[in-house]
Amino acid sequence: MSNSRTLTFNIFRYDPQLPGDAPAMVQYQLEETAGMTVFIALNRIRAEQDPSLQFDFVCRAGICGSCAMVINGLPTLACRTLTAKYSDGNITLMPLPGFELIGDLSVNTGKFMRELAERLKLWLHPAADQHDIHLIEQPMAPDEAAKLYELERCVECGVCVSACATAQMRDTFVGAVGMMKIARFELDSRDARSAEDFYHVIGTQDGVFGCMTLLGCQDNCPKDLPHMQQIAYLRRKMSRTLIGISHA
Ligand code: SF4
Ligand code: FES
Repeated sequence: MSNSRTLTFNIFRYDPQLPGDAPAMVQYQLEETAGMTVFIALNRIRAEQDPSLQFDFVCRAGICGSCAMVINGLPTLACRTLTAKYSDGNITLMPLPGFELIGDLSVNTGKFMRELAERLKLWLHPAADQHDIHLIEQPMAPDEAAKLYELERCVECGVCVSACATAQMRDTFVGAVGMMKIARFELDSRDARSAEDFYHVIGTQDGVFGCMTLLGCQDNCPKDLPHMQQIAYLRRKMSRTLIGISHA
């Protein structure tokens, strides 16, 4: 980079494990390099200035979802965010809200996703006669496989939970990630659960009927998943199911 500039990072620091520690914003300065991402900058700050700085990463390629944080007010992936995007060179980093804080920019999305999977039973429920592991695999129609693949692209980064006002107000709300995962199994022809079974899991104010359609999820999802379309589909399906239950 010919016109190198100095970036100013304001980073949230707090270690809840450290007795007496208090939340604070700490400032760091760093020379920008060509193609620098926020993730690269954090690695350099940790290597060159402050080895105690906590943040998460695994893949550095937008695949693992670990490096999500709030960058200048918007939740997103640090490894996919170029520092060049911020023309004044000021970058403020906060941990994702709505998750247990491990320390600094590191939050426990894994615990949230595991509890969500157990609560919503996010695994394939085959019919009773399909439980034999020696059965020969059956081919899937290409258009069904394509629809499932689209929803399987979720990297469980937690951005949609942090970007959702409902999830921030009510920590029992399943969030867009929960609804996208339910939509994935509802679409899967191998899953034997009925619409009524799914209704009992997400046909509540903590599920599809709690969503206020603010669409912070769709606006910020780093994988561009079709939240609006899938939530609307589930809501219509669950509304029809409720009418069926009421008239039974
Ligand atoms: S739906 Fe998008 S924003 Fe939400 S966890 Fe999955 S990848 Fe992240
Ligand atoms: S480090 Fe894996 S998504 Fe950023």
